Amino acid sequence: EKGGYEHYMRKEIHEQPTALRQTLSGRIDLDRGDVDLDLSFPQGYLESLEEIQLVACGTSYYASQYAATLLEEFADVRATVEIASEYEFDGGRDPWRTLVIAVTQSGETADTLGAIRRAAGAGARTLAVTNTLGSTVTRETNDTLFIRAGPEIGVAATKTFASQVTTLALLAVAVGRGRGSLSTADARDVLENVRGLPGAVQQVLDDEARVTEVANECLGSDAFFFVGRRFGYPVALEGALKLKEISYDHAEGFAAGELKHGPLALVTEKTPVLAVLTAGADGSETVNNLAEAQTRGAPAIGVVSDGAETGSLDCALEVPRVGVFEPLVANVYFQLFAYHVANLKDRSIDKPRNLAKSVTVE
Ligand code: F6R
Repeated sequence: EKGGYEHYMRKEIHEQPTALRQTLSGRIDLDRGDVDLDLSFPQGYLESLEEIQLVACGTSYYASQYAATLLEEFADVRATVEIASEYEFDGGRDPWRTLVIAVTQSGETADTLGAIRRAAGAGARTLAVTNTLGSTVTRETNDTLFIRAGPEIGVAATKTFASQVTTLALLAVAVGRGRGSLSTADARDVLENVRGLPGAVQQVLDDEARVTEVANECLGSDAFFFVGRRFGYPVALEGALKLKEISYDHAEGFAAGELKHGPLALVTEKTPVLAVLTAGADGSETVNNLAEAQTRGAPAIGVVSDGAETGSLDCALEVPRVGVFEPLVANVYFQLFAYHVANLKDRSIDKPRNLAKSVTVE
């Protein structure tokens, strides 16, 4: 059932090109520069929309952070993200003009269901973005958008993160087109990059042997820091979460600019820093932050755009050019890194201690 893989997690990491093709299947119309998502927004709804609020937990929360920036960029709409367990709906005078999106792989996360119920109860329009047909969230929202990643068995979410961000990118195009804020030409550019994702992810998977080497070199580390800007920031947070979940090593993600505001005190030659330096992540600025860590002896591992300058990195991992989606592809390196560190330490990868696949208590 694991198709020759030792763990579901590695199988699911490798399923990402297929999962992404399913996510995109039949949804992109390049000629019109638009997408077809089968949503039932009433006539004129998108034009009158005032704000989009995304609510989610864990990995789905980081996918939502990525998506909020995509929504602001493509759809010119205010987009906020909140951790579901902290969320209170505040919809102003006309709550229906706020679209609240619950992003949840399982569709059963109690914190996320609680948040979407509070929003619906206050009169907001609601949308579920989920992987699970017939799940509770689909019965509690006005609309559902399936991410179509296929079943995910490993406790650590991997392919569903990629499919969530990709589905929400399509939604951002739909909202941008609906509001008239995204031109046909710009939409086509975005959609071309989206269509490049399955192939781009495959190229990273083909580079897995290098990640195994890097993981091996890092085994004696005290802690791991992940840094990034813009779209690289949620990916840094997700990279750290994945590593801590399955390897039990101490890992933290930071906005790259924040390193010098405190975390730098923890940096030594035994704290590798993994940085997203691709397009969509303002890599050239992050390089300067990284240099401050390198001065303290920290090994620097950077994910860069294909063919970019790699400067003084100890290790440069390349992703194909897909614009603002490059950090999403960089995340696949972080998934492989977490997997191999955990595997070399012989951890219980598919069922990490203390964690469950779906968290049905608040
Ligand atoms: C991390 C992980 C969790 C989930 C979180 C939300 O690998 O799996 O952080 O992302 O519990 O779960 P869903 O998306 O099912 O609501």
